[in-house]
Amino acid sequence: MAAAFYVCFLLWCFQINTAGAQLPPPHNLNVISMNTNYTLTWDWDQGQGSAESGAVNFTTHYVAKFMLKSKKKSPNWNIGCETTSDRSCDLTNKNLFYLGIYVFRVRASVNGTDSDWATKDFCPDEEAALGPPSKVALSPEGRNLDIVISDPLSSTNRSMREHHEDLYFQIRYWERSADGQALRGHSLSSKKRVVTLSNLQAWTWYCVSVQSRYDFYNKSSSFTPPTLHAD
Ligand SMILES: *[C@@H]1O[C@H](CO)[C@@H](O)[C@H](O)[C@H]1NC(C)=O
Ligand SMILES: *[C@@H]1O[C@H](CO)[C@@H](O)[C@H](O)[C@H]1NC(C)=O
Ligand SMILES: *[C@@H]1O[C@H](CO)[C@@H](O)[C@H](O)[C@H]1NC(C)=O
Ligand SMILES: *[C@@H]1O[C@H](CO)[C@@H](O)[C@H](O)[C@H]1NC(C)=O
Ligand SMILES: *[C@@H]1O[C@H](CO)[C@@H](O)[C@H](O)[C@H]1NC(C)=O
Repeated sequence: MAAAFYVCFLLWCFQINTAGAQLPPPHNLNVISMNTNYTLTWDWDQGQGSAESGAVNFTTHYVAKFMLKSKKKSPNWNIGCETTSDRSCDLTNKNLFYLGIYVFRVRASVNGTDSDWATKDFCPDEEAALGPPSKVALSPEGRNLDIVISDPLSSTNRSMREHHEDLYFQIRYWERSADGQALRGHSLSSKKRVVTLSNLQAWTWYCVSVQSRYDFYNKSSSFTPPTLHAD
Protein backbone atom coordinates (compact mmCIF):
# COMPACT_ATOMS: atom_id res chain seq x y z
CA MET A 1 0.00 0.00 0.00
CA ALA A 2 2.65 2.42 1.02
CA ALA A 3 4.71 1.65 -2.11
CA ALA A 4 1.73 2.19 -4.42
CA PHE A 5 0.95 5.54 -2.84
CA TYR A 6 4.56 6.62 -3.31
CA VAL A 7 4.56 5.81 -7.05
CA CYS A 8 1.33 7.67 -7.66
CA PHE A 9 2.63 10.69 -5.81
CA LEU A 10 5.78 10.76 -7.95
CA LEU A 11 3.82 10.54 -11.23
CA TRP A 12 1.55 13.36 -10.13
CA CYS A 13 4.53 15.65 -9.46
CA PHE A 14 6.14 14.72 -12.75
CA GLN A 15 2.99 15.61 -14.72
CA ILE A 16 2.61 18.98 -13.09
CA ASN A 17 6.21 19.76 -13.84
CA THR A 18 6.15 18.91 -17.56
CA ALA A 19 2.75 20.57 -18.03
CA GLY A 20 4.14 23.77 -16.56
CA ALA A 21 7.09 23.78 -18.96
CA GLN A 22 5.02 22.97 -22.03
CA LEU A 23 4.45 25.19 -25.00
CA PRO A 24 0.73 25.82 -25.57
CA PRO A 25 -0.59 23.91 -28.58
CA PRO A 26 -2.42 25.73 -31.40
CA HIS A 27 -6.20 26.09 -30.88
CA ASN A 28 -9.31 27.15 -32.81
CA LEU A 29 -8.48 24.83 -35.71
CA ASN A 30 -10.72 25.56 -38.68
CA VAL A 31 -10.81 24.53 -42.33
CA ILE A 32 -11.54 27.32 -44.79
CA SER A 33 -12.79 25.52 -47.89
CA MET A 34 -14.14 26.35 -51.32
CA ASN A 35 -14.90 23.48 -53.69
CA THR A 36 -11.68 21.42 -53.46
CA ASN A 37 -9.52 24.16 -51.99
CA TYR A 38 -8.85 23.40 -48.29
CA THR A 39 -6.84 25.63 -45.95
CA LEU A 40 -6.35 24.72 -42.29
CA THR A 41 -6.14 27.77 -40.02
CA TRP A 42 -5.44 28.08 -36.29
CA ASP A 43 -4.67 30.48 -33.48
CA TRP A 44 -1.75 30.33 -31.12
CA ASP A 45 -1.15 32.21 -27.91
CA GLN A 46 2.40 33.08 -27.17
CA GLY A 47 3.46 31.27 -23.98
CA GLN A 48 4.72 33.49 -21.15
CA GLY A 49 8.18 31.88 -21.30
CA SER A 50 8.92 32.43 -24.99
CA ALA A 51 9.79 36.07 -25.17
CA GLU A 52 10.82 36.23 -28.82
CA SER A 53 7.49 36.90 -30.50
CA GLY A 54 7.29 35.74 -34.10
CA ALA A 55 10.01 33.10 -33.50
CA VAL A 56 7.59 30.20 -33.68
CA ASN A 57 7.33 27.43 -36.23
CA PHE A 58 4.27 25.30 -36.96
CA THR A 59 4.17 21.84 -38.45
CA THR A 60 0.99 20.46 -40.06
CA HIS A 61 0.34 16.77 -40.75
CA TYR A 62 -2.63 14.91 -42.20
CA VAL A 63 -3.72 11.29 -42.46
CA ALA A 64 -6.81 9.35 -43.55
CA LYS A 65 -8.79 8.74 -40.36
CA PHE A 66 -9.13 4.98 -40.83
CA MET A 67 -5.33 4.70 -40.61
CA LEU A 68 -5.53 5.80 -36.98
CA LYS A 69 -7.85 2.90 -36.16
CA SER A 70 -5.40 0.31 -37.45
CA LYS A 71 -3.99 -1.54 -34.45
CA LYS A 72 -0.80 -2.61 -36.23
CA LYS A 73 1.52 0.34 -35.76
CA SER A 74 1.54 4.10 -35.52
CA PRO A 75 0.25 5.64 -38.75
CA ASN A 76 2.43 7.44 -41.26
CA TRP A 77 1.38 11.04 -40.98
CA ASN A 78 1.84 12.98 -44.22
CA ILE A 79 3.46 16.39 -44.16
CA GLY A 80 1.14 19.29 -44.93
CA CYS A 81 3.39 22.23 -44.09
CA GLU A 82 6.72 22.25 -42.27
CA THR A 83 8.32 24.98 -40.20
CA THR A 84 6.13 27.83 -41.32
CA SER A 85 5.43 30.82 -39.15
CA ASP A 86 2.04 31.32 -40.88
CA ARG A 87 -1.04 30.34 -38.91
CA SER A 88 -2.45 28.47 -41.88
CA CYS A 89 -1.58 25.59 -44.17
CA ASP A 90 -2.95 25.17 -47.71
CA LEU A 91 -3.71 21.46 -48.22
CA THR A 92 -5.32 21.91 -51.64
CA ASN A 93 -2.56 20.22 -53.60
CA LYS A 94 -2.40 17.12 -51.35
CA ASN A 95 -4.96 15.30 -53.51
CA LEU A 96 -7.29 14.53 -50.64
CA PHE A 97 -9.95 12.01 -51.62
CA TYR A 98 -13.22 13.96 -51.68
CA LEU A 99 -15.17 11.20 -49.94
CA GLY A 100 -12.42 10.55 -47.40
CA ILE A 101 -12.37 11.50 -43.73
CA TYR A 102 -9.07 13.04 -42.67
CA VAL A 103 -7.43 14.07 -39.44
CA PHE A 104 -5.28 17.20 -39.56
CA ARG A 105 -2.85 17.97 -36.75
CA VAL A 106 -0.66 20.96 -36.04
CA ARG A 107 1.87 21.78 -33.34
CA ALA A 108 3.97 24.79 -32.39
CA SER A 109 7.76 24.69 -31.94
CA VAL A 110 9.88 27.35 -30.29
CA ASN A 111 13.57 27.01 -29.80
CA GLY A 112 13.58 23.24 -30.21
CA THR A 113 10.61 22.65 -27.87
CA ASP A 114 7.43 21.20 -29.38
CA SER A 115 3.87 21.68 -28.12
CA ASP A 116 1.30 18.89 -28.08
CA TRP A 117 -0.57 18.29 -31.31
CA ALA A 118 -3.98 19.89 -31.83
CA THR A 119 -6.23 17.90 -34.18
CA LYS A 120 -9.21 18.51 -36.43
CA ASP A 121 -11.29 16.04 -38.45
CA PHE A 122 -12.34 17.01 -41.96
CA CYS A 123 -14.49 15.34 -44.62
CA PRO A 124 -14.61 17.34 -47.87
CA ASP A 125 -17.80 15.71 -49.15
CA GLU A 126 -19.66 16.64 -45.99
CA GLU A 127 -18.00 19.89 -44.98
CA ALA A 128 -16.31 21.67 -47.89
CA ALA A 129 -18.15 24.77 -49.03
CA LEU A 130 -19.67 24.72 -52.50
CA GLY A 131 -18.73 27.58 -54.81
CA PRO A 132 -21.07 29.63 -57.00
CA PRO A 133 -21.25 28.99 -60.77
CA SER A 134 -17.89 29.82 -62.36
CA LYS A 135 -19.68 31.91 -65.00
CA VAL A 136 -23.16 33.15 -65.91
CA ALA A 137 -23.81 34.49 -69.41
CA LEU A 138 -27.02 35.75 -71.01
CA SER A 139 -27.81 35.09 -74.64
CA PRO A 140 -30.95 36.55 -76.23
CA GLU A 141 -32.78 34.32 -78.72
CA GLY A 142 -35.63 36.36 -80.23
CA ARG A 143 -38.10 36.99 -77.40
CA ASN A 144 -36.37 34.40 -75.27
CA LEU A 145 -33.35 34.75 -73.09
CA ASP A 146 -30.94 31.85 -72.51
CA ILE A 147 -29.16 31.82 -69.18
CA VAL A 148 -25.91 29.91 -69.76
CA ILE A 149 -24.42 28.67 -66.48
CA SER A 150 -20.93 27.19 -66.00
CA ASP A 151 -20.53 24.71 -63.13
CA PRO A 152 -18.47 25.58 -60.07
CA LEU A 153 -14.94 24.29 -60.62
CA SER A 154 -12.53 22.27 -58.52
CA SER A 155 -8.95 23.45 -57.95
CA THR A 156 -7.98 21.46 -61.06
CA ASN A 157 -10.70 23.22 -63.08
CA ARG A 158 -13.02 20.23 -63.26
CA SER A 159 -16.76 20.43 -62.73
CA MET A 160 -17.86 19.99 -59.11
CA ARG A 161 -20.60 17.72 -60.53
CA GLU A 162 -17.93 15.01 -60.49
CA HIS A 163 -18.31 15.11 -56.70
CA HIS A 164 -21.90 16.26 -56.35
CA GLU A 165 -23.86 14.66 -59.16
CA ASP A 166 -27.14 16.17 -57.91
CA LEU A 167 -25.82 19.70 -57.94
CA TYR A 168 -28.42 22.18 -59.20
CA PHE A 169 -28.88 25.90 -59.62
CA GLN A 170 -31.19 28.34 -57.91
CA ILE A 171 -31.83 31.18 -60.36
CA ARG A 172 -33.17 34.59 -59.37
CA TYR A 173 -34.15 37.17 -61.91
CA TRP A 174 -35.71 40.59 -61.73
CA GLU A 175 -37.67 42.50 -64.34
CA ARG A 176 -37.61 46.24 -64.54
CA SER A 177 -39.13 48.56 -67.12
CA ALA A 178 -36.77 50.97 -68.87
CA ASP A 179 -38.15 53.87 -66.82
CA GLY A 180 -37.08 52.07 -63.66
CA GLN A 181 -40.61 51.04 -62.58
CA ALA A 182 -42.26 47.72 -61.81
CA LEU A 183 -39.54 45.74 -60.15
CA ARG A 184 -40.54 42.07 -60.17
CA GLY A 185 -38.60 39.16 -58.74
CA HIS A 186 -38.77 35.55 -59.88
CA SER A 187 -37.06 32.41 -58.73
CA LEU A 188 -36.63 28.97 -60.26
CA SER A 189 -34.35 25.99 -59.88
CA SER A 190 -32.79 23.75 -62.52
CA LYS A 191 -30.14 21.07 -62.94
CA LYS A 192 -29.56 22.26 -66.52
CA ARG A 193 -26.70 24.51 -67.60
CA VAL A 194 -28.91 26.37 -70.08
CA VAL A 195 -32.20 27.74 -68.81
CA THR A 196 -34.50 29.64 -71.17
CA LEU A 197 -36.75 32.47 -70.07
CA SER A 198 -39.48 32.80 -72.70
CA ASN A 199 -41.72 35.62 -73.85
CA LEU A 200 -39.68 38.44 -72.46
CA GLN A 201 -41.24 41.85 -72.20
CA ALA A 202 -39.97 44.49 -74.58
CA TRP A 203 -38.22 47.53 -73.07
CA THR A 204 -37.46 45.60 -69.92
CA TRP A 205 -34.27 45.03 -68.03
CA TYR A 206 -33.48 41.55 -66.79
CA CYS A 207 -31.08 40.95 -63.99
CA VAL A 208 -29.94 37.38 -63.28
CA SER A 209 -28.12 35.90 -60.28
CA VAL A 210 -27.41 32.19 -59.72
CA GLN A 211 -26.54 30.02 -56.71
CA SER A 212 -25.19 26.44 -56.69
CA ARG A 213 -26.86 23.95 -54.36
CA TYR A 214 -26.41 20.40 -53.19
CA ASP A 215 -29.17 19.25 -50.87
CA PHE A 216 -27.73 16.03 -49.44
CA TYR A 217 -25.40 17.98 -47.16
CA ASN A 218 -27.49 21.16 -47.40
CA LYS A 219 -24.79 23.03 -49.29
CA SER A 220 -25.56 26.34 -50.96
CA SER A 221 -23.11 28.82 -52.46
CA SER A 222 -23.24 32.58 -52.56
CA PHE A 223 -25.21 34.08 -55.46
CA THR A 224 -23.24 35.30 -58.47
CA PRO A 225 -23.14 39.09 -58.95
CA PRO A 226 -26.14 40.15 -61.03
CA THR A 227 -25.75 39.80 -64.80
CA LEU A 228 -27.79 42.36 -66.72
CA HIS A 229 -29.70 42.08 -69.98
CA ALA A 230 -31.54 45.04 -71.52
CA ASP A 231 -34.11 43.95 -74.07
C1 LIG B 1 -6.88 28.18 -52.01
O1 LIG B 1 -7.63 29.33 -51.66
C2 LIG B 1 -6.86 30.36 -51.06
C3 LIG B 1 -7.82 31.44 -50.62
O2 LIG B 1 -8.62 31.86 -51.67
C4 LIG B 1 -5.81 30.84 -52.04
O3 LIG B 1 -5.02 31.84 -51.45
C5 LIG B 1 -4.93 29.66 -52.44
O4 LIG B 1 -4.01 30.08 -53.43
C6 LIG B 1 -5.77 28.52 -52.98
N1 LIG B 1 -4.91 27.37 -53.19
C7 LIG B 1 -4.70 26.83 -54.38
C8 LIG B 1 -3.72 25.69 -54.41
O5 LIG B 1 -5.25 27.21 -55.38
C1 LIG C 1 16.58 29.13 -26.60
O1 LIG C 1 17.47 28.15 -26.16
C2 LIG C 1 18.73 28.68 -25.75
C3 LIG C 1 19.65 27.53 -25.43
O2 LIG C 1 18.98 26.51 -24.73
C4 LIG C 1 18.51 29.61 -24.57
O3 LIG C 1 19.73 30.20 -24.19
C5 LIG C 1 17.52 30.71 -24.99
O4 LIG C 1 17.23 31.54 -23.88
C6 LIG C 1 16.26 30.11 -25.51
N1 LIG C 1 15.40 31.18 -26.03
C7 LIG C 1 14.12 31.26 -25.78
C8 LIG C 1 13.41 32.41 -26.39
O5 LIG C 1 13.51 30.43 -25.10
C1 LIG D 1 12.13 27.28 -37.29
O1 LIG D 1 12.66 26.33 -38.19
C2 LIG D 1 13.90 26.73 -38.75
C3 LIG D 1 14.27 25.71 -39.81
O2 LIG D 1 14.20 24.41 -39.30
C4 LIG D 1 14.93 26.83 -37.66
O3 LIG D 1 16.17 27.26 -38.19
C5 LIG D 1 14.45 27.83 -36.63
O4 LIG D 1 15.35 27.87 -35.56
C6 LIG D 1 13.08 27.45 -36.12
N1 LIG D 1 12.58 28.49 -35.22
C7 LIG D 1 12.06 28.21 -34.03
C8 LIG D 1 11.53 29.39 -33.29
O5 LIG D 1 11.97 27.07 -33.57
C1 LIG E 1 -7.92 27.06 -64.26
O1 LIG E 1 -8.43 28.03 -65.14
C2 LIG E 1 -7.98 29.36 -64.89
C3 LIG E 1 -8.71 30.31 -65.81
O2 LIG E 1 -8.90 29.76 -67.08
C4 LIG E 1 -6.45 29.38 -65.09
O3 LIG E 1 -5.97 30.67 -64.80
C5 LIG E 1 -5.83 28.39 -64.12
O4 LIG E 1 -4.42 28.33 -64.33
C6 LIG E 1 -6.41 27.00 -64.31
N1 LIG E 1 -5.89 26.12 -63.28
C7 LIG E 1 -5.54 24.85 -63.51
C8 LIG E 1 -5.06 24.08 -62.33
O5 LIG E 1 -5.61 24.31 -64.61
C1 LIG F 1 -29.90 24.31 -44.58
O1 LIG F 1 -29.29 25.54 -44.92
C2 LIG F 1 -30.17 26.64 -44.84
C3 LIG F 1 -29.46 27.87 -45.38
O2 LIG F 1 -28.08 27.81 -45.23
C4 LIG F 1 -30.59 26.81 -43.38
O3 LIG F 1 -31.48 27.90 -43.27
C5 LIG F 1 -31.28 25.53 -42.91
O4 LIG F 1 -31.62 25.64 -41.55
C6 LIG F 1 -30.38 24.32 -43.13
N1 LIG F 1 -31.13 23.10 -42.83
C7 LIG F 1 -30.58 22.07 -42.20
C8 LIG F 1 -31.45 20.88 -42.02
O5 LIG F 1 -29.42 22.09 -41.80
